[in-house]
Amino acid sequence: MIHDPNRVYVFDTTLRDGEQVPGCQLTTPEKIEIARELEALGVDIIEAGFPISSPGDFQSVVEISKAVRNPTVCALTRANRGDIDVAVQSLQYAKHPRIHTGIGSSDMHIKHKFNSTREDILARAVDAVAYAKRFVEDIEFYAEDAGRADVNFLAQMVEAVIAAGATVVNIPDTNGYCLPNQYGDKIRFLKENVQNIDKAIISVHCHNDLGLATANSIAGLQNGARQIEGTINGIGERAGNTSIEEVVMILKTHQNLGLHTNINARNFYEISHMVATQMRMPVQANKAIVGANAFAHSSGIHQDGFLKNRENYEIIKPEDVGFPSATIVLTARSGRHALKYHLERLGHKLDRSELNDVYQSFLTLADNKLDINDEDLQMLVTSNVSLVQNENK
Ligand code: KIV
Ligand code: ZN
Repeated sequence: MIHDPNRVYVFDTTLRDGEQVPGCQLTTPEKIEIARELEALGVDIIEAGFPISSPGDFQSVVEISKAVRNPTVCALTRANRGDIDVAVQSLQYAKHPRIHTGIGSSDMHIKHKFNSTREDILARAVDAVAYAKRFVEDIEFYAEDAGRADVNFLAQMVEAVIAAGATVVNIPDTNGYCLPNQYGDKIRFLKENVQNIDKAIISVHCHNDLGLATANSIAGLQNGARQIEGTINGIGERAGNTSIEEVVMILKTHQNLGLHTNINARNFYEISHMVATQMRMPVQANKAIVGANAFAHSSGIHQDGFLKNRENYEIIKPEDVGFPSATIVLTARSGRHALKYHLERLGHKLDRSELNDVYQSFLTLADNKLDINDEDLQMLVTSNVSLVQNENK
Protein backbone atom coordinates (compact mmCIF):
# COMPACT_ATOMS: atom_id res chain seq x y z
CA MET A 1 0.00 0.00 0.00
CA ILE A 2 1.34 3.45 -0.92
CA HIS A 3 1.24 5.72 2.10
CA ASP A 4 -0.17 9.19 1.40
CA PRO A 5 2.22 11.58 3.23
CA ASN A 6 -0.48 14.23 3.58
CA ARG A 7 -3.12 12.01 5.09
CA VAL A 8 -3.87 12.71 8.77
CA TYR A 9 -5.27 9.80 10.77
CA VAL A 10 -8.02 10.64 13.25
CA PHE A 11 -7.91 8.80 16.58
CA ASP A 12 -11.05 9.27 18.65
CA THR A 13 -10.84 8.91 22.43
CA THR A 14 -14.34 10.11 23.35
CA LEU A 15 -15.06 6.68 24.83
CA ARG A 16 -11.84 6.60 26.89
CA ASP A 17 -10.37 10.03 27.74
CA GLY A 18 -13.81 11.61 27.24
CA GLU A 19 -15.59 9.04 29.34
CA GLN A 20 -13.19 9.61 32.26
CA VAL A 21 -15.02 12.88 32.97
CA PRO A 22 -17.10 12.66 36.17
CA GLY A 23 -20.77 12.19 35.26
CA CYS A 24 -20.04 11.18 31.64
CA GLN A 25 -19.93 7.44 32.24
CA LEU A 26 -21.80 5.39 29.65
CA THR A 27 -23.32 1.93 29.53
CA THR A 28 -21.98 -0.57 26.97
CA PRO A 29 -25.04 -0.17 24.66
CA GLU A 30 -24.59 3.61 24.72
CA LYS A 31 -20.91 3.23 23.86
CA ILE A 32 -21.77 0.92 20.98
CA GLU A 33 -24.21 3.51 19.61
CA ILE A 34 -21.51 6.21 19.73
CA ALA A 35 -18.90 3.84 18.24
CA ARG A 36 -21.22 3.20 15.26
CA GLU A 37 -21.62 6.96 14.77
CA LEU A 38 -17.85 7.37 14.96
CA GLU A 39 -17.52 4.73 12.27
CA ALA A 40 -20.01 6.63 10.09
CA LEU A 41 -18.06 9.83 10.78
CA GLY A 42 -15.01 8.10 9.31
CA VAL A 43 -12.61 8.08 12.25
CA ASP A 44 -9.61 5.80 11.68
CA ILE A 45 -9.15 4.60 15.25
CA ILE A 46 -11.62 4.30 18.13
CA GLU A 47 -10.07 4.09 21.59
CA ALA A 48 -12.76 1.92 23.12
CA GLY A 49 -11.58 1.83 26.72
CA PHE A 50 -9.05 0.86 29.39
CA PRO A 51 -9.94 -2.82 29.81
CA ILE A 52 -8.14 -3.53 33.08
CA SER A 53 -9.88 -0.61 34.80
CA SER A 54 -13.24 -2.39 35.28
CA PRO A 55 -15.24 -5.38 34.02
CA GLY A 56 -17.64 -2.90 32.36
CA ASP A 57 -14.83 -1.24 30.41
CA PHE A 58 -13.47 -4.66 29.40
CA GLN A 59 -16.92 -5.67 28.11
CA SER A 60 -17.30 -2.42 26.20
CA VAL A 61 -14.06 -3.05 24.31
CA VAL A 62 -15.26 -6.58 23.49
CA GLU A 63 -18.65 -5.36 22.21
CA ILE A 64 -17.28 -2.38 20.27
CA SER A 65 -14.79 -4.75 18.61
CA LYS A 66 -17.75 -6.79 17.38
CA ALA A 67 -19.86 -3.78 16.40
CA VAL A 68 -17.50 -1.89 14.08
CA ARG A 69 -15.55 -3.18 11.09
CA ASN A 70 -13.74 -0.30 9.44
CA PRO A 71 -11.97 1.58 12.24
CA THR A 72 -9.09 0.14 14.23
CA VAL A 73 -10.25 -0.62 17.78
CA CYS A 74 -7.74 0.40 20.40
CA ALA A 75 -7.40 -0.57 24.08
CA LEU A 76 -5.38 1.44 26.61
CA THR A 77 -2.91 -0.10 29.05
CA ARG A 78 -0.21 0.97 31.45
CA ALA A 79 3.28 -0.32 30.68
CA ASN A 80 2.91 -3.69 32.40
CA ARG A 81 2.24 -7.22 31.22
CA GLY A 82 -0.90 -7.71 33.35
CA ASP A 83 -2.68 -4.75 31.70
CA ILE A 84 -1.52 -5.91 28.27
CA ASP A 85 -2.82 -9.48 28.78
CA VAL A 86 -6.27 -8.13 29.62
CA ALA A 87 -6.23 -5.72 26.69
CA VAL A 88 -5.26 -8.52 24.29
CA GLN A 89 -8.22 -10.57 25.52
CA SER A 90 -10.64 -7.63 25.18
CA LEU A 91 -9.58 -7.12 21.54
CA GLN A 92 -10.07 -10.74 20.47
CA TYR A 93 -12.97 -9.89 18.11
CA ALA A 94 -11.46 -6.72 16.65
CA LYS A 95 -10.85 -6.82 12.91
CA HIS A 96 -8.08 -4.25 13.31
CA PRO A 97 -6.82 -4.34 16.93
CA ARG A 98 -4.38 -1.85 18.45
CA ILE A 99 -2.81 -1.76 21.90
CA HIS A 100 -2.02 1.67 23.31
CA THR A 101 0.56 1.27 26.03
CA GLY A 102 2.84 3.79 27.68
CA ILE A 103 4.43 5.42 30.69
CA GLY A 104 5.46 8.85 31.99
CA SER A 105 8.32 10.56 30.19
CA SER A 106 8.85 13.82 32.13
CA ASP A 107 11.21 13.94 35.10
CA MET A 108 8.21 15.12 37.11
CA HIS A 109 6.35 11.87 36.41
CA ILE A 110 9.47 9.68 36.60
CA LYS A 111 10.43 11.00 40.05
CA HIS A 112 7.13 11.94 41.64
CA LYS A 113 4.70 9.46 40.10
CA PHE A 114 6.88 6.38 39.58
CA ASN A 115 9.61 7.15 42.16
CA SER A 116 11.99 5.81 39.56
CA THR A 117 14.84 6.66 37.18
CA ARG A 118 15.02 7.38 33.45
CA GLU A 119 16.84 4.07 32.87
CA ASP A 120 14.17 2.03 34.64
CA ILE A 121 11.32 3.83 32.85
CA LEU A 122 13.01 3.29 29.49
CA ALA A 123 13.37 -0.43 30.20
CA ARG A 124 9.70 -0.70 31.23
CA ALA A 125 8.58 1.13 28.09
CA VAL A 126 10.58 -1.17 25.82
CA ASP A 127 9.42 -4.29 27.64
CA ALA A 128 5.75 -3.26 27.38
CA VAL A 129 5.98 -2.62 23.65
CA ALA A 130 7.94 -5.80 22.92
CA TYR A 131 5.50 -7.84 25.03
CA ALA A 132 2.39 -6.36 23.39
CA LYS A 133 3.95 -6.96 19.96
CA ARG A 134 3.86 -10.72 20.62
CA PHE A 135 0.06 -10.58 20.38
CA VAL A 136 -0.86 -7.57 18.26
CA GLU A 137 0.94 -6.07 15.27
CA ASP A 138 -0.32 -2.51 15.70
CA ILE A 139 1.21 -1.00 18.86
CA GLU A 140 0.90 2.64 19.85
CA PHE A 141 3.21 3.93 22.60
CA TYR A 142 2.32 7.03 24.66
CA ALA A 143 5.06 9.03 26.40
CA GLU A 144 2.86 10.54 29.09
CA ASP A 145 3.53 14.20 29.95
CA ALA A 146 5.77 14.51 26.89
CA GLY A 147 4.87 18.21 26.81
CA ARG A 148 7.08 18.73 29.88
CA ALA A 149 9.67 16.03 29.12
CA ASP A 150 13.30 16.68 28.32
CA VAL A 151 13.40 16.47 24.54
CA ASN A 152 16.62 14.45 24.37
CA PHE A 153 15.30 11.81 26.76
CA LEU A 154 12.00 11.81 24.85
CA ALA A 155 13.87 11.18 21.59
CA GLN A 156 15.78 8.33 23.22
CA MET A 157 12.52 6.80 24.47
CA VAL A 158 10.77 7.17 21.11
CA GLU A 159 13.69 5.57 19.27
CA ALA A 160 13.79 2.65 21.71
CA VAL A 161 10.06 1.88 21.54
CA ILE A 162 10.04 2.06 17.72
CA ALA A 163 12.95 -0.40 17.71
CA ALA A 164 10.83 -2.61 20.01
CA GLY A 165 7.94 -2.56 17.53
CA ALA A 166 5.80 0.56 18.10
CA THR A 167 3.96 1.56 14.92
CA VAL A 168 2.64 4.85 16.33
CA VAL A 169 4.33 7.12 18.89
CA ASN A 170 1.99 9.35 20.83
CA ILE A 171 3.52 12.56 22.24
CA PRO A 172 0.87 13.75 24.72
CA ASP A 173 0.77 17.21 26.18
CA THR A 174 -0.97 15.56 29.12
CA ASN A 175 -1.27 18.74 31.16
CA GLY A 176 -2.00 21.16 28.34
CA TYR A 177 1.21 22.99 29.25
CA CYS A 178 2.90 23.78 25.94
CA LEU A 179 2.66 26.83 23.72
CA PRO A 180 2.02 25.94 20.07
CA ASN A 181 5.58 26.79 18.97
CA GLN A 182 7.06 24.72 21.83
CA TYR A 183 4.91 21.73 21.01
CA GLY A 184 5.56 22.07 17.27
CA ASP A 185 9.32 22.32 17.90
CA LYS A 186 9.20 19.15 20.00
CA ILE A 187 7.53 17.21 17.21
CA ARG A 188 10.01 18.56 14.66
CA PHE A 189 12.93 17.63 16.93
CA LEU A 190 11.69 14.03 17.06
CA LYS A 191 11.14 13.99 13.31
CA GLU A 192 14.70 15.21 12.71
CA ASN A 193 16.60 13.39 15.45
CA VAL A 194 15.02 9.98 15.97
CA GLN A 195 16.86 7.69 13.55
CA ASN A 196 14.02 5.20 12.94
CA ILE A 197 11.15 7.75 13.00
CA ASP A 198 10.16 6.82 9.42
CA LYS A 199 9.01 3.44 10.77
CA ALA A 200 6.25 5.01 12.90
CA ILE A 201 3.55 7.65 12.75
CA ILE A 202 3.83 10.52 15.24
CA SER A 203 0.57 11.21 17.06
CA VAL A 204 -0.51 14.38 18.84
CA HIS A 205 -2.65 14.14 21.97
CA CYS A 206 -3.28 17.54 23.55
CA HIS A 207 -5.21 18.67 26.59
CA ASN A 208 -6.91 22.02 26.88
CA ASP A 209 -5.84 23.36 30.28
CA LEU A 210 -4.72 26.67 28.74
CA GLY A 211 -7.21 26.59 25.86
CA LEU A 212 -4.44 25.60 23.43
CA ALA A 213 -5.30 21.97 22.63
CA THR A 214 -6.43 22.62 19.07
CA ALA A 215 -3.64 25.12 18.33
CA ASN A 216 -1.04 22.70 19.68
CA SER A 217 -2.45 19.80 17.65
CA ILE A 218 -2.25 21.87 14.48
CA ALA A 219 1.33 22.92 15.34
CA GLY A 220 2.17 19.22 15.74
CA LEU A 221 0.68 18.39 12.34
CA GLN A 222 2.55 21.28 10.72
CA ASN A 223 5.78 19.82 12.07
CA GLY A 224 5.35 16.26 10.90
CA ALA A 225 2.77 14.45 13.07
CA ARG A 226 0.22 12.50 11.02
CA GLN A 227 -2.23 11.28 13.64
CA ILE A 228 -4.38 13.54 15.79
CA GLU A 229 -6.12 12.34 18.96
CA GLY A 230 -9.20 14.05 20.30
CA THR A 231 -12.81 13.80 21.28
CA ILE A 232 -16.17 14.95 20.02
CA ASN A 233 -17.06 18.34 21.57
CA GLY A 234 -13.57 18.39 23.13
CA ILE A 235 -14.73 16.57 26.26
CA GLY A 236 -12.06 14.98 28.43
CA GLU A 237 -10.08 15.17 31.66
CA ARG A 238 -10.22 18.59 33.38
CA ALA A 239 -10.54 21.26 30.62
CA GLY A 240 -10.85 18.54 27.99
CA ASN A 241 -9.04 17.20 24.94
CA THR A 242 -8.60 18.55 21.43
CA SER A 243 -11.95 18.79 19.59
CA ILE A 244 -11.84 16.56 16.55
CA GLU A 245 -14.38 18.75 14.75
CA GLU A 246 -12.14 21.80 15.16
CA VAL A 247 -8.99 20.15 13.80
CA VAL A 248 -10.81 18.62 10.83
CA MET A 249 -12.46 21.90 9.87
CA ILE A 250 -9.17 23.81 10.25
CA LEU A 251 -7.53 21.41 7.79
CA LYS A 252 -10.47 21.82 5.39
CA THR A 253 -10.56 25.60 5.72
CA HIS A 254 -6.79 26.06 5.37
CA GLN A 255 -6.18 23.94 2.30
CA ASN A 256 -2.72 25.46 1.96
CA LEU A 257 -1.60 23.26 4.86
CA GLY A 258 -1.93 20.45 2.32
CA LEU A 259 -3.30 17.99 4.89
CA HIS A 260 -6.52 15.99 4.78
CA THR A 261 -8.51 13.42 6.75
CA ASN A 262 -11.12 10.82 5.84
CA ILE A 263 -13.79 12.43 8.01
CA ASN A 264 -17.37 13.00 6.76
CA ALA A 265 -17.71 16.46 8.29
CA ARG A 266 -21.45 16.58 7.55
CA ASN A 267 -21.94 14.14 10.43
CA PHE A 268 -20.45 16.48 13.05
CA TYR A 269 -23.65 18.17 14.17
CA GLU A 270 -25.49 14.89 14.70
CA ILE A 271 -22.70 13.13 16.58
CA SER A 272 -22.07 16.23 18.70
CA HIS A 273 -25.70 16.13 19.85
CA MET A 274 -25.57 12.42 20.49
CA VAL A 275 -22.43 12.70 22.63
CA ALA A 276 -23.75 15.74 24.51
CA THR A 277 -27.04 14.02 25.29
CA GLN A 278 -25.72 10.61 26.20
CA MET A 279 -22.85 11.99 28.28
CA ARG A 280 -25.05 14.63 29.92
CA MET A 281 -22.48 17.24 28.95
CA PRO A 282 -24.16 20.16 27.12
CA VAL A 283 -22.14 21.93 24.43
CA GLN A 284 -21.45 25.58 25.25
CA ALA A 285 -23.43 27.83 22.89
CA ASN A 286 -20.32 29.54 21.50
CA LYS A 287 -18.37 26.30 20.91
CA ALA A 288 -16.63 26.39 17.52
CA ILE A 289 -18.26 24.30 14.76
CA VAL A 290 -21.04 22.65 16.80
CA GLY A 291 -22.26 25.21 19.39
CA ALA A 292 -25.83 26.54 19.08
CA ASN A 293 -24.51 30.00 18.16
CA ALA A 294 -21.72 28.85 15.82
CA PHE A 295 -23.77 30.02 12.81
CA ALA A 296 -26.06 32.60 14.48
CA HIS A 297 -25.68 36.23 13.44
CA SER A 298 -27.13 38.75 15.86
CA SER A 299 -25.70 42.25 15.59
CA GLY A 300 -27.06 44.67 13.01
CA ILE A 301 -23.68 45.23 11.31
CA HIS A 302 -23.03 41.50 10.91
CA GLN A 303 -26.59 40.74 9.81
CA ASP A 304 -26.51 43.42 7.14
CA GLY A 305 -23.16 42.12 5.81
CA PHE A 306 -24.29 38.52 5.99
CA LEU A 307 -27.51 39.23 4.06
CA LYS A 308 -25.51 40.99 1.33
CA ASN A 309 -23.10 38.06 1.00
CA ARG A 310 -22.92 35.27 3.58
CA GLU A 311 -19.16 34.97 3.06
CA ASN A 312 -18.76 38.36 4.71
CA TYR A 313 -19.30 36.60 8.04
CA GLU A 314 -19.18 32.87 7.30
CA ILE A 315 -15.94 30.94 6.73
CA ILE A 316 -17.64 27.54 6.96
CA LYS A 317 -21.03 26.70 5.46
CA PRO A 318 -23.28 25.35 8.25
CA GLU A 319 -24.49 22.54 5.96
CA ASP A 320 -20.85 21.36 5.58
CA VAL A 321 -20.88 20.28 9.22
CA GLY A 322 -24.53 19.13 9.17
CA PHE A 323 -25.90 22.26 10.86
CA PRO A 324 -29.56 22.86 9.86
CA SER A 325 -28.88 26.43 8.64
CA ALA A 326 -27.40 29.77 9.59
CA THR A 327 -29.69 31.91 11.71
CA ILE A 328 -30.30 35.62 11.84
CA VAL A 329 -31.19 36.18 15.47
CA LEU A 330 -33.43 39.14 16.26
CA THR A 331 -32.28 41.17 19.26
CA ALA A 332 -32.33 44.84 20.22
CA ARG A 333 -28.97 45.09 18.36
CA SER A 334 -30.50 43.96 15.05
CA GLY A 335 -31.05 46.36 12.20
CA ARG A 336 -33.85 46.93 9.69
CA HIS A 337 -32.30 44.51 7.17
CA ALA A 338 -32.62 41.61 9.57
CA LEU A 339 -36.18 42.54 10.50
CA LYS A 340 -37.13 42.90 6.81
CA TYR A 341 -35.56 39.51 6.07
CA HIS A 342 -37.68 37.80 8.74
CA LEU A 343 -40.89 39.66 7.86
CA GLU A 344 -40.50 38.67 4.20
CA ARG A 345 -39.84 35.09 5.26
CA LEU A 346 -43.27 35.25 6.97
CA GLY A 347 -44.90 36.74 3.86
CA HIS A 348 -45.01 40.46 4.83
CA LYS A 349 -43.64 42.79 2.18
CA LEU A 350 -43.54 46.28 3.72
CA ASP A 351 -42.64 49.60 2.19
CA ARG A 352 -40.00 51.78 3.79
CA SER A 353 -42.25 53.80 6.11
CA GLU A 354 -44.19 50.68 7.18
CA LEU A 355 -40.93 48.93 7.96
CA ASN A 356 -39.82 51.96 9.98
CA ASP A 357 -42.99 51.84 12.07
CA VAL A 358 -42.68 48.14 12.77
CA TYR A 359 -38.96 48.54 13.49
CA GLN A 360 -39.67 51.10 16.25
CA SER A 361 -42.18 48.74 17.92
CA PHE A 362 -39.74 45.87 17.42
CA LEU A 363 -36.96 47.76 19.27
CA THR A 364 -39.25 48.47 22.22
CA LEU A 365 -40.21 44.80 22.39
CA ALA A 366 -36.62 43.56 21.93
CA ASP A 367 -35.39 45.77 24.78
CA ASN A 368 -37.74 43.88 27.07
CA LYS A 369 -37.77 40.37 25.61
CA LEU A 370 -34.66 38.29 24.97
CA ASP A 371 -36.02 35.99 22.33
CA ILE A 372 -38.05 37.48 19.47
CA ASN A 373 -39.87 34.67 17.68
CA ASP A 374 -42.20 34.40 14.66
CA GLU A 375 -45.29 34.87 16.83
CA ASP A 376 -43.89 38.15 18.13
CA LEU A 377 -43.26 39.32 14.55
CA GLN A 378 -46.83 38.44 13.51
CA MET A 379 -48.09 40.37 16.51
CA LEU A 380 -45.95 43.40 15.59
CA VAL A 381 -47.38 43.45 12.07
CA THR A 382 -51.01 42.84 13.00
CA SER A 383 -50.95 45.33 15.86
CA ASN A 384 -50.21 48.02 13.30
CA VAL A 385 -53.76 48.54 11.98
CA SER A 386 -52.82 50.70 9.01
CA LEU A 387 -50.43 48.03 7.80
CA VAL A 388 -53.04 45.32 8.03
CA GLN A 389 -55.45 47.50 6.10
CA ASN A 390 -52.86 48.22 3.46
CA GLU A 391 -51.96 44.58 3.15
CA ASN A 392 -55.65 43.65 2.77
CA LYS A 393 -56.28 46.15 -0.03
O1 KIV B 1 -3.20 12.62 28.33
C1 KIV B 1 -2.54 11.57 28.28
O2 KIV B 1 -1.32 11.55 28.45
C2 KIV B 1 -3.28 10.33 28.04
C3 KIV B 1 -2.48 9.10 27.78
C4 KIV B 1 -3.03 7.94 28.53
C5 KIV B 1 -2.43 8.85 26.31
O3 KIV B 1 -4.48 10.34 27.96
ZN1 ZN C 1 -5.25 12.35 27.59
